[in-house]
Amino acid sequence: MTTTESHAPELAEPQMLGFLAQLGIDVEFIRAEGDTLFYRDGAGEDVPVLDVAGGYGALILGHNHPEIVDAARDFFAAGRPVLAQASRQSDPTLVARLLNDILRREFGDPEPYYAVFANSGAEGVEVAMKHAEFARVLRVQDLLTEIETHLAAVVEAVDSGAARVPEEVLRRLGAEPGDGPGILADRVRAAVAQQAAQPPVFLTFAGSFHGKLAGSIQLTHNAGFRVPFAGLAASARFVAFEQPGAVAEAVEAEGVDVPDLLVEGGEIRLVQRPFPTVAAFVLEVIQGEGGIRMVSAPIAAEVRAAADAAGIPVVVDEIQSGMGRTGAFFASSHIGLRADYFVLAKGLGGGIAKTAVTLIRESCYRPDFELLHSSTFARDGFSTALALRTLRVLEADGGAVYRLAARAGERLRTTLEKVRADFPDVVAEVRGRGLMLGVEFRDQSTSPLPPLREATANGILGYLFSGYLFRAHRIRTFPTASAVSTLRLEPSVYFGDEAVAELDGALRALCSLLRTGDPRLFETA
Ligand code: F0G
Repeated sequence: MTTTESHAPELAEPQMLGFLAQLGIDVEFIRAEGDTLFYRDGAGEDVPVLDVAGGYGALILGHNHPEIVDAARDFFAAGRPVLAQASRQSDPTLVARLLNDILRREFGDPEPYYAVFANSGAEGVEVAMKHAEFARVLRVQDLLTEIETHLAAVVEAVDSGAARVPEEVLRRLGAEPGDGPGILADRVRAAVAQQAAQPPVFLTFAGSFHGKLAGSIQLTHNAGFRVPFAGLAASARFVAFEQPGAVAEAVEAEGVDVPDLLVEGGEIRLVQRPFPTVAAFVLEVIQGEGGIRMVSAPIAAEVRAAADAAGIPVVVDEIQSGMGRTGAFFASSHIGLRADYFVLAKGLGGGIAKTAVTLIRESCYRPDFELLHSSTFARDGFSTALALRTLRVLEADGGAVYRLAARAGERLRTTLEKVRADFPDVVAEVRGRGLMLGVEFRDQSTSPLPPLREATANGILGYLFSGYLFRAHRIRTFPTASAVSTLRLEPSVYFGDEAVAELDGALRALCSLLRTGDPRLFETA
C-alpha cells in the first residue's frame, strides 16, 4: 500500500470495514490456494489462514483449483469471446445437458429441464420467481378466457329463452330480479378482475434465505434484511419449518375461488372456480443462513403433495446446498424431493467465475419467457466455460468429488460431535450434512463477560467467535447471518485430516474460554 493510499478515505463500504476491524479480521488476503488464504504481516511474511468459510459456500473445489484456473487460461489463450450475446454458444448447452444427466441419475426421471442462466444466486432465484409468475399469469389468462366463453354462452342462452336464471343465482351475485344476463356477466367479470389484480403470493419456510435483491429479499425471512424493502415486490407467506401439516394448511389458506356461470339443463348455474394465487413454493432443502437446518423427507413429501394438489410449482434453491457439497450433486436427492425448478449458483463457476442457472422442468416451462427475460452478462462465454469445466471435475471418475465431500464431511462431523460431547454446556448442537455443517453455541446472555452479554443482545455473538478463531488460531469462519450463534463450516472437498485437527484444537480452545468466561477471548494477537 502506498502512503497516499493509506491516507485516502475508505469509500468502499467503510462501515463494514470498521466492523471487520473491530473483530481484528480486516486483513487483506494476497494469495489463495485450496483451503488456505494468505495475508502479509508487518514483517513481510505471508501468514496462512485456514479458510472454513469457503467463499460463503462457493468454494466446493477450494481456491484457485488448478483445473479451473487452466480452464480460464485455455479460454483466454484461445482468444475466445466473453461477450457474444444472441449467438450460438455450445458451452451453455453442454452445461445444461450435463445438469440433465445428473438430474436423471439422482432423481431417475427422464423429463428434461431447460436452463436459464444468471449472474448470482439472488438473480437465479428471481429468474425462478419471474418465470413462475409468468406461468401463473398465463394460467390466469386461460381461466379468464374460459370464463368469458361461459359468460357469452350464458347471455345467449338467456336472451334466446333457452335458459332461465334461478332466483338464488341472482341473489348470490347481488343482482335484482329484473336484471338481465349482461348484468350478471358484469358482476362475475368484476369479481374475477378484482382477484386477477392481486399480486401473487410466494410460499417459503420460516428461516429461509433466498437472496437480497428486490424480489428475492421478500423470500428471506430475517425481518431486519426484509422489512425495509417490503414495498418493493410481492410478498411471501412464511410456513412453520418442519411442522407436520403446516404446508398443507398454508396452501389451503391461500386458496381463493372466483365465480363462473354455466348453462346446464335450461338453467344458469353459479359455480366457484379455484384461482391460482400462489406463484411458487420456494425452499432450501438445507437452510444455510437460517442456521444449517435440514428439511426432512416427510416434510419434503408434504411440500410435493400439497403443491401438486394445488398446481403450485416447487422451486428448490440449491444455491448453497448443491454442487456436490452434501455427497450428492443435489442435496434434495437425499430426501427424494424432485423440484419443478432448481436454482444453482455459488460453486457453479468453480470458485472463479460468477454464474447461476435456473433449471425448469419441461412441463412447467413457458418458452416465451426467453423473449421476455434477459441480462447482459448472463451465460457469457467465460463463466459458462468455467461452469462446464467445474461440472466435469465434479463428475470425473464416477463422481469421486462427491465421495470426497461425503468422507470429508463425515470426518469433520465426527470431530465436531466430539467437541459437543466434551463441551455440552457450550455447544448446543451440530447440524448439517456433508460439507455444509453448523455448530450452534449456547446462549451467552448470562455470561460473566460483559462483551459476550452485549454481543448476544446485539445479535452478533457468532462474529465474536469468528474474531477469536481468526486472531488466535488463523482460522476463518462466519456465523449464519440469520442465526448468529451458529458457526457455519463449509470448506472444500480437499479439507484433510490436518485441517480437521487444526479446527478441532481451535474450537476446543474457544469452548474452554467460553466455559470459564475467560477474557482472553478478546485478546488481540
Ligand atoms: N439462496 C441461498 C440458499 C443462499 O445461501 C444465497 C446466498 C442466495 C440464495 C443468494 O445468492 O448471494 O449469490 O445473490 N447466501 C450468501 C451466504 C449470502 O452468506 O451464504 P447470492
